[in-house]
Amino acid sequence: MVKFLDLQKINAQYVDELKSATARVIDSGWYLQGIEVSNFEKHLSEYIGVKHAIGVANGLDALRLILKAYIEMGVMQEGDEVIVPANTYIATILAITDNKLKAILVEPDINNYNLNISLIEKYITDRTKAIMIVHLYGLVCWSEELEVLAKKYHLKIIEDNAQAIGANYRKSMTSGLTHAEEIKSGALGDASGFSFYPGKNLGALGDAGAVTTNDDILAETVRALGNYGSKKKYVHEYQGLNSRMDELQAAILDVKLSYVDIENNRRREIAQYYSENIININIVLPVLDNKLLIRDNQSHVWHLFVIRSSKRDRLQEYLTENGIQTLIHYPIPPHKQKAYKALNNLCFPVTELIHNEVLSLPISPVMEMQEVIHIVKVINAFIK
Ligand SMILES: Cc1ncc(COP(=O)(O)O)c(C=O)c1O
Repeated sequence: MVKFLDLQKINAQYVDELKSATARVIDSGWYLQGIEVSNFEKHLSEYIGVKHAIGVANGLDALRLILKAYIEMGVMQEGDEVIVPANTYIATILAITDNKLKAILVEPDINNYNLNISLIEKYITDRTKAIMIVHLYGLVCWSEELEVLAKKYHLKIIEDNAQAIGANYRKSMTSGLTHAEEIKSGALGDASGFSFYPGKNLGALGDAGAVTTNDDILAETVRALGNYGSKKKYVHEYQGLNSRMDELQAAILDVKLSYVDIENNRRREIAQYYSENIININIVLPVLDNKLLIRDNQSHVWHLFVIRSSKRDRLQEYLTENGIQTLIHYPIPPHKQKAYKALNNLCFPVTELIHNEVLSLPISPVMEMQEVIHIVKVINAFIK
């Protein structure tokens, strides 16, 4: 059987380093707010290319805390609007509504499943304060048009970078630079939220997340908000949360961070093989511009390899019968969830089509080439 994702095998690659990192933490007797978290924050901020990285409890909290900090800073207030793609994972939207902000859902681009930037402007009102982009499935969502819009309307750009650590965007010389410059996701917008959920491209052995930003005040506010609203012990400036990365997860993540580029490259090789060899009229592959699997200036780290088929359920059944595990990201769009009853009557045809047709194939840095070849063969033989 080909598993969708073999986490045991992924972590077994680094078992000695992980065991010595966890032993170091156990032996230290210090489990929160210590050297391991500050080391990981330093290494993450250097890797992403930003001034600040703040470890938090999970990816949802990373996004919640960014918005909460902007509210404390007076940048936005309850009832303000945040533009967000309609086809994202529900956590992006939970972060907005949890802060009593209004999520303004906008359709994605059917070709790349990311927010359709050309549709944003008509949704902007005088209550719009931010655009929350999502680098969905590992593909960077960014363009000069987005930057221009944010500047024109004084909007913050917040990145949901839960799925795209290591991806980058190539800024061209037209944006005032003397040479093309590559900027990592997480360093593109005003602030970014990361998830280190175990199945992510950089996965902890439990929940963890981070916020990155170049904004000193935002960084300080996020850090305080995640620590009961406190900068100094027992002195509370805000009504905060308890959302901190723990020392064990930080030590584990610090080991795995040094392998993330190697793992992302392996994912790219698998994606390239799928892209070049899956040939079946019932299946739509991700749209790519060239062999480097870079779309325009936006690189992909293949957190998920998502195909589409109008016969998706039958295809999934067929793959299961042939011993290939697949998943659907995601079967129900946020506006159709019971949790958002008030949105249930909204109509987003592109989003709904995507949710009805997408299927994620196994992709991971530890897949054997025979498994990839086998999957392609089975998919190419799919009829109906
Ligand atoms: C796009 C997106 N945003 C946010 C999250 C939330 O991250 P976490 O599960 O760490 O809370 C996830 C992951 O689950 C995600 O995929």
